Amino acid sequence: MPASRSRRVVTRIYRPSPANLQRLARILSRGGLVAVPSETVYGLAADALNAAACEAIFTAKGRPANDPLIVHIAHRRQLAALTTEFPPEAKALADAFWPGPLTLVLHKTPAVPDIVTAGLPSVAVRMPAHPLFLKLIRLSGRPLAAPSANPFGYISPTSAAHVKAGLDGRIGAILNGGPCPIGVESTIVDLRNPKRPVLLRPGGIAREALAAVLGKPVRVATRQLGPDEAATAAEAPGLLWRHYSPRTPLQLHDRLSVAALDALPADEALLLQRKPVDQAAAADRRCFWLSPTGDIAEIARELFDALRRLDDGRWRRVHVERVRTKKGLGPAINDRLTRAAAKG
Ligand code: TXA
Ligand code: MG
Repeated sequence: MPASRSRRVVTRIYRPSPANLQRLARILSRGGLVAVPSETVYGLAADALNAAACEAIFTAKGRPANDPLIVHIAHRRQLAALTTEFPPEAKALADAFWPGPLTLVLHKTPAVPDIVTAGLPSVAVRMPAHPLFLKLIRLSGRPLAAPSANPFGYISPTSAAHVKAGLDGRIGAILNGGPCPIGVESTIVDLRNPKRPVLLRPGGIAREALAAVLGKPVRVATRQLGPDEAATAAEAPGLLWRHYSPRTPLQLHDRLSVAALDALPADEALLLQRKPVDQAAAADRRCFWLSPTGDIAEIARELFDALRRLDDGRWRRVHVERVRTKKGLGPAINDRLTRAAAKG
């Protein structure tokens, strides 16, 4: 990305004072970029109806143009400009889960620029639950397109410091809303054919919770793109295999116990779901865990931060334990781990 590298800007982190929110909303309504906190991960936001503004998102992230953006709204009135219809299935899911970590893919209006949807005739929309994100949407008066605020392919950011570490010099403004309370991205459901909802990405809302509201199962998108198929990603956006990847190789295990420490080289680490009971093991410098108690919400919240901290060059390999539950946040956590561990 030579063009954007040569134009470095000063990246400021803003605290959420009323004056700063006004200032950041003005940047957005004038076509600028602002990194914003959400309940899932930080997003890099721009006016979704301003093609040039959205193009700048792709430049800042180094994101390929065939990977579409999610459009964020603060009120359902904003849907009229974005989607041609809002079927009863969409309404039921929105009633149950908006504002919150659920993204719906629907047919788009011509007002949504092609750059936002990667040329697809559909658009992904979500009403986030984070009060600061909602406030910026309201103050700017714009629906805001926002992908995760990280360089393309790296682990998503769950703090303002993560955003700064990845995009320093490439964006001017980061709104600091503290750590993200959910920590994995939204669940994405394709409702283009509302009779056959399809789960495109597991996330903050569980598949079984969607099924309970819809009164029928939600099929999981079957085709995952292999490592060599990035060029065809526009056919199945979001199914890019390698994503969320640290530089340090990860090796996943269904079960990992502190017994593994005995045979572990000095430059390899263990990332467990919960703190080991064995005190000597817990004190071992190669031993890390996501939650003292193995609480699934805490594991999700800590996951990306832990992967980033273990990606500082100290370790030749990190062994990570998958979560065992197939319910709730389990599939989202394992999906991110699988992608983070994928090579290519
Ligand atoms: O939690 C989240 O969803 C966060 C916060 C910031 O809202 N955003 C996020 O955006 O994760 P991003 O860009 O990292 O992931 C967006 C994904 C795309 O990669 C693609 O898979 C899917 O959303 N997507 C967007 N538009 C789509 C469309 N029209 N059809 C199918 N998938 C779409
Ligand atoms: Mg992302």
